[in-house]
Amino acid sequence: MERTRSPKFSKPVFTCGDGLRFATPEVVGRYRAGRLKCSVLADISCGIGGQAVCFAKECGSVYGIDIDGERLECARRNAGVYGVDNITFIEGDALSPQVVEQVADADVIFSDPARPAEEDVRQTDSLRPGIPMVMEAYRDVTGSFAFEAPPQMPPERIDFNCEREYLGVDGQLNRLTLYFGPLKRCERSAVVLKGGRHYRLESGVDAPVVIPEVDEPRVYAFEPDPAVVKAGLLGELAGGLGGKVELVRIDARRSLLTSDVLLESLFFKHRYRVLDRVPLDCRKVNRSLMGHGMGKAVIRFRIAPEKYWDARNRIENGLMGEGIAHLFGIADQVYVCEKI
Ligand SMILES: C[S@@+](CC[C@H](N)C(=O)[O-])C[C@H]1O[C@@H](n2cnc3c(N)ncnc32)[C@H](O)[C@@H]1O
Repeated sequence: MERTRSPKFSKPVFTCGDGLRFATPEVVGRYRAGRLKCSVLADISCGIGGQAVCFAKECGSVYGIDIDGERLECARRNAGVYGVDNITFIEGDALSPQVVEQVADADVIFSDPARPAEEDVRQTDSLRPGIPMVMEAYRDVTGSFAFEAPPQMPPERIDFNCEREYLGVDGQLNRLTLYFGPLKRCERSAVVLKGGRHYRLESGVDAPVVIPEVDEPRVYAFEPDPAVVKAGLLGELAGGLGGKVELVRIDARRSLLTSDVLLESLFFKHRYRVLDRVPLDCRKVNRSLMGHGMGKAVIRFRIAPEKYWDARNRIENGLMGEGIAHLFGIADQVYVCEKI
């Protein structure tokens, strides 16, 4: 066991083995604790306690359970680090009747299960303890369950009657939480954490807009937060923008929203002004960048890793300006954009 500093936590925490790597970052822990606030909560796979200490700040009392005694000892010490004394720690298999009966007064069962470090395709079947098993073991305790699941999984691959909440932090897809029973508010949601606040978009509130597709961006391009994209809520985002918006596909996995009007949304990761369109040719791109006073270029299109630096050097050759261009490639054209 060691005590270490990590960008995930505001204080140095106790950890062992892979504990820190799999721990819930404080910013996520605080958000989820706010959503799951209740009288008695059981975190039945609490690891080193990253999430459990946040629950303890919001809930009346918390059970912290883990099958791994060393991790549980870290969690106990981390409760001290964070100054909380309302967690009862239980070492054992969360699925065993002996553990279940010790948490019979829990209002909410939360689990951030263990999962294989690598998997070809992420799936809920490989989570430990497994979701159906947990719900069966605790069915006489409560109907309110929340589980963390791999965020790479799209909503349609989650075959449970639950809310699928994708969480974005700093423009990156960070977490997927599944909410069951009375905790379920909708089918799909996206939550973006920014500046200590959270912003939520959900399915089923307004009818989603069908976004027309276009072949190239208009005057402005908007990069939606990946949590919105993953939750399948681009239509709901477009519906709330109050302006004409279209969709332009960058490649099989990425799309931008685009408009002739400068739109604003908390669910945009970045906004760009489209400055130019040039053929995919390094010299032509370089000339355009010079003309727009750029000093650097960020390549935002797919390029073989071994060709990246050669292309970047040619594109940036002789640039003296201050600006940073973002280059999106669509078909055989490059769109020179600058962030707003
Ligand atoms: C992803 S970690 C949890 C991390 C935790 N949220 C944190 O912030 O530190 C998953 C944990 O599940 C525990 N686990 C796996 N199977 C379990 C079981 N059957 N009962 C209790 N804990 C279990 C593992 O020991 C591991 O510590």
